[in-house]
Amino acid sequence: MKISFQSAGASSSRLLALVVAEGKLPADLERSVAEGAAAARFAGKAGQLFEAFVERDGQLVRLALVGAGPGEGDRAANLERAGAALAARYLTSGETVLALDAGGSALDADGLVSVLLGLRLRGWRYDAYRTRLKDDQKVSLGEVSVIGAPDGAESAWQTAAALAHGVEFARELVTEPANIIYPESFVERCLARFAGTGAELSFLTEEEMGELGMGALLGVAQGSVRKPRLLVIKWLGGGKGVKPTVFVGKGVTFDTGGISIKPAAGMEDMKWDMGGAAAVAGAMLALSGRKAKANVIGVCGLVENMPDGNAQRPGDVVTTMSGQTVEVINTDAEGRLVLCDAMTWAQREFAPAALVDLATLTGAMIISLGHEHGGIFSNDDTLADDLLAAGRTSGDKLWRFPLSPAYDKLIDSAIADMKNVGPRWAGSITAAQYLQRYVEGGTPWAHLDIAGMVWADKPGQTWDKGATGYGVRLIDSYVQSKLEG
Ligand code: BES
Ligand code: MN
Ligand code: ZN
Repeated sequence: MKISFQSAGASSSRLLALVVAEGKLPADLERSVAEGAAAARFAGKAGQLFEAFVERDGQLVRLALVGAGPGEGDRAANLERAGAALAARYLTSGETVLALDAGGSALDADGLVSVLLGLRLRGWRYDAYRTRLKDDQKVSLGEVSVIGAPDGAESAWQTAAALAHGVEFARELVTEPANIIYPESFVERCLARFAGTGAELSFLTEEEMGELGMGALLGVAQGSVRKPRLLVIKWLGGGKGVKPTVFVGKGVTFDTGGISIKPAAGMEDMKWDMGGAAAVAGAMLALSGRKAKANVIGVCGLVENMPDGNAQRPGDVVTTMSGQTVEVINTDAEGRLVLCDAMTWAQREFAPAALVDLATLTGAMIISLGHEHGGIFSNDDTLADDLLAAGRTSGDKLWRFPLSPAYDKLIDSAIADMKNVGPRWAGSITAAQYLQRYVEGGTPWAHLDIAGMVWADKPGQTWDKGATGYGVRLIDSYVQSKLEG
């Protein structure tokens, strides 16, 4: 969706939108609009929409009033909902241009940017594989033309547009099926998308990971004909010598469960088992797009988990890069096997100020928190609090879970240093305990289990059903408030 800015004046667009604060219908509306809105119980609640056709200067204008909600509360989120409501309503309406009357809406620059961000994010669709869409099912809305934007809005939008671009990229990676996005093609897609951003991309091959001793990651990959990759995306926009913050993403491009194979029903969902890696890649794209003044590195552990003659077996013992050994009780608990080697490598390579991993790690997390919060586990209260705060600001909400030695001992093994699964209960916590065993030298670390957040079965605040892009805004917001502040 193209967003353009025009100076104040009459618009020639047939579709004109006005953002209306709750209970504050503009006084200069046509009688049919004012009375029609009242009759339709349009009050200006966040995301509420009322449409009327009016004649202005001899032209028929399709006028949309969209609610900004009350002045108090989370104003930015309410304004995003207003923008999102416009996108949802007009994306396939037949209208091609939406004129947004910023002057008449009395929005400040930040408010306007929130509306535009909601519009852009909710307007994202991926129709690459739909070859038989009827004309009235196709996206028609291609441009938002902002009229009379306040000073500073256009440059503020450039920053928000970089963020939107990052969210969209994460959604694209998540949406693509696993025959299209596998470890090597994930890397290729990133190389293409990051061209010209100034971010530095590199990757480790299977051979290189073998030499480094990444037996856990490679044990997962060995059942697949797809070669694993460890992708590294560096954005060093901060001070020289300032330790980087590293984000590690679980990138299981398809998770069959391996030999501990998953049931058939719903297995197609496991194409989005790379949602952590997609969030990391999307966030890095946003940060490099807006030239963030921070040193941030993204590391994506990319593998496919397949059953095969060469696949690892339940009971196999693998040696991780850390030197610790793992008894692989269940080949479906593969995410932690990928992450542990990626975490060891990232710590030894970059000596990060903080290490944060994002992963669709456990079904148990969906049982705990549903689709409203991601779970956060951390060895550092400040890091946890900062991420929780970034979650509230960005809307990518988190909820903290405990770690303790009592949970940790549940993954002790009779034959190796640890096993890769605990008992049935506290499954998300034992997964986090497993990862904590790979934190070195007291590095501040947080694990975000985002299994319930990557994919939505129904439309939400700023997304349609499907890939949400969860995590991109969270990382961006954390970087902005804690590393750039
Ligand atoms: N990718 C899954 C977790 C998952 C399940 C994410 C459903 C999103 C939706 C992960 O690899 C997995 O299979 N975890 C197992 C762990 C178990 C074997 C200890 C699980 O949650 O069942
Ligand atoms: Mn699994
Ligand atoms: Zn998985």
